[in-house]
Parts: sequence; C-alpha cells; structure tokens
Amino acid sequence: MLVAGGVLIVVVLIVAAVVLASETGVGKPVNARTLDSGPYSVRFLAVGDWGRGPGQKEHDNQTAVAQLMDRVAAAQPVEFIVSTGDNFYPNGLTSYKDPAFTDTFTKTYSAKSLQVPWHAVLGNHDYCDSAPGCNTTDGCPNSPLHQLNISLANLGPPLALRTLVHSQDRRGQRYYKNSGEDDISWRLCPGGLMEQSWQAQLLELERHLNASTAEWKLAVGHHPSYSNGEHGNNTDIIQQVEPLFWRYNVAAYFVGHDHNLELLSVPAPDGSARSYAVVVTGAGSKTDRPQVGTAFSKYYHPDQGFVGATITQDTLRLDYFTLQGGEKAAFSATIQWPATN
Ligand SMILES: *[C@@H]1O[C@H](CO)[C@@H](O)[C@H](O)[C@H]1NC(C)=O
Ligand SMILES: *[C@@H]1O[C@H](CO)[C@@H](O)[C@H](O)[C@H]1NC(C)=O
Ligand SMILES: *[C@@H]1O[C@H](CO)[C@@H](O)[C@H](O)[C@H]1NC(C)=O
Ligand SMILES: *[C@@H]1O[C@H](CO)[C@@H](O)[C@H](O)[C@H]1NC(C)=O
Ligand SMILES: *[C@@H]1O[C@H](CO)[C@@H](O)[C@H](O)[C@H]1NC(C)=O
Repeated sequence: MLVAGGVLIVVVLIVAAVVLASETGVGKPVNARTLDSGPYSVRFLAVGDWGRGPGQKEHDNQTAVAQLMDRVAAAQPVEFIVSTGDNFYPNGLTSYKDPAFTDTFTKTYSAKSLQVPWHAVLGNHDYCDSAPGCNTTDGCPNSPLHQLNISLANLGPPLALRTLVHSQDRRGQRYYKNSGEDDISWRLCPGGLMEQSWQAQLLELERHLNASTAEWKLAVGHHPSYSNGEHGNNTDIIQQVEPLFWRYNVAAYFVGHDHNLELLSVPAPDGSARSYAVVVTGAGSKTDRPQVGTAFSKYYHPDQGFVGATITQDTLRLDYFTLQGGEKAAFSATIQWPATN
C-alpha cells in the first residue's frame, strides 16, 4: 500500500493461498513508496507474457521490449514493475536454480532503471501448462512453487512473485476439467491447481479489498475479464471476480494472456456512468495473434510493447509503448477518479 500526500493507492494482486512465504498471499496489497516529494504521483510499468528462452528472446523481441522499458524508465523513473504472468515459457521453472530464471529474467531486465521491485502474478505457463508427465505427484520437476521461493529475490531485481487465481477461458472449464481439447495433466503439478481452492482465494481477495481505504484500487491478474485478443473473454473472471471490482471500486484490472496491448472500458451493469478499465499488457515477447472482436475497446495493438501508468490524486494515466512508437507513447488515456465511461 502506498501512502503519499494523504492519498492511498493499493495494487491488489490476484493470488493464491498455497504454501506462500509471508511476503505473498491472496490479494495482499503491494507495498511501494513514491519517488516524488513534490506533487503526488506514482509511476510503474506493466509487462506480461515475456518469459522466452535463449535465442527466442531476440527472435520474439523480448530483449527489444526490455530495452525500450529501460529507455522509458530511465527518462521517467518508476517505483515498481508489474508482471501480468507467463514469466517463464513454456512450463515455468524446474527448480529455484533453473537457469531460465537468470537467462530470461535477470539478464534480460538488467538495466539500472529496471532494478526496482517487480510484482508478478503467475500465468498458466508458470503453472506448467502442457508440461508432459506432470500427472504424477513425484515425477514433475516443474512447479509454480519454485517461483515463490524467496531466495529468488536475491538473484535479480527485487522480486515478489505471487500466484494467481486460475480461470477457464472461452473454451470452458479448461484448467479444471478435461474437455478433451487439451492435455491438462499439468494441473496435478506440485503446487498446481488441484492443491488450491479458488473459492478461498476469492474470499481472501475480497477481504483485502474490503479492508483497504485506498482511493485507487488496481487489480492484477493473468487472465482478462474481457479481451478482444485471441483468447477472448474469460467467463469465470467475469462471473466470480468482476463483481468485486464493482463492489469495491477497482478502477483498473491489469492482465496479460492475450499477446497484445489493449485498453477496454467496461461499463457498469447497473447502467450508471461508472466503468473499470481492462489493461491488457501481454506483449512482452511473442505476439502475432488474431484479434477476435471490438467489445468495449478503446485501443488495440497487435505487436510488442508494455504499459506505463502514472497515478495522481484523481487521475490514472495509461501510456502504451510499442516497439514501432519507441519512447513516445503510441496511445495514452487518462482515467478520472471515480472512474466513469
Ligand atoms: C520485432 O519487432 C520488429 C519491430 O517492431 C518487427 O518488425 C518484427 O516483426 C518483430 N519480430 C517478431 C518475431 O515479432
Ligand atoms: C500421464 O502422462 C503420461 C505422459 O504424458 C501419459 O502417457 C499417461 O497416459 C498419463 N496418465 C494418465 C492417467 O493421465
Ligand atoms: C528455496 O531456495 C533455497 C536456497 O536458498 C533452497 O535451499 C530450497 O530448497 C528452495 N526451496 C524449494 C521449495 O525449492
Ligand atoms: C468489510 O469490512 C467491514 C468493516 O470492517 C466488516 O464489518 C465487514 O464484515 C467486511 N465485509 C466483508 C465481506 O469482508
Ligand atoms: C465478450 O463479451 C462482450 C460483452 O458481453 C461481447 O460483446 C463480446 O462479443 C464478447 N467477445 C467475444 C470474442 O465473444
């Protein structure tokens, strides 16, 4: 939680409750501080779906995105960086010593301007999505728990990785039930979905949102509620999580999963002028995915980039940085508090 100039901001990460160190927990507010001693403002970057391996990092432009993040953050320092998940493709880490951690994360984001706390959620790939042979409890080296090992924080920028409430995507109960479409044996990985209770996590998230007196509440997850990217809308985020956004005045939901950059403005179901923003920032490396709709869309970019956020007492400015646009934001939007359409 951020306290500055008498204004509170909370960034709530949608997280899971299993075997977590004290620094982690469901919906636990992020602790951060503001750099500015003058007019109140807080800045951070949000990037997702970045974790490519050697060779791929260059091919899929992860390195180019990291360099652009450095140029943006060097010009205007940021307090922290949010990762919206899929930190290590394709199947998360195989141990806390997995070289993917240093190859993909530490060495890629090595610029001085990026040595700030990274607050990350886990995506489906961090949960070993499609890791073969993970249907036994003893045969799977891949586990989301490795990313929660607090020892990792000593290996790179300060890191506070957290896990995520999983969702089904539009194809149905993909992560919990075998639809026949996907091999979902990976849900049995140590620390995987079958060891978690999304109902308990949802209650924990509500507890934190309810307890917060912050004026700005931002949520971070991997799966969007609404998206016009390839994966589309996620029914259970809409049904289970979104009602909390309305009830507790969450202004924006930062997500990845779709490999693009989007801003959506979701109107309130009660017909009032309220809205919340879905900020899709899943363009940290590989993109090339089709657009499937235009619902609620204010901005859509199919290629690599990331989002910068600047919060003042009554505005949240979102700057969308793309490889083509460089350090000049390709698109900017300002959301007033309280958020309205
Ligand atoms: C990397 O970025 C450049 C510049 O935007 C683009 O032309 C190229 O297609 C990108 N490569 C991949 C694999 O996405
Ligand atoms: C477990 O995974 C292996 C390797 O992917 C597969 O051959 C086997 O059929 C799976 N067993 C069950 C019970 O799903
Ligand atoms: C976490 O890291 C420590 C090294 O600091 C290691 O000894 C321990 O086994 C790791 N825990 C897990 C669960 O991998
Ligand atoms: C919200 O907080 C209030 C005041 O502490 C408490 O009375 C109420 O039970 C809480 N509601 C939920 C859903 O946690
Ligand atoms: C997502 O939901 C919105 C609102 O219900 C709807 O208009 C849109 O068509 C949906 N998108 C897809 C790809 O189904």
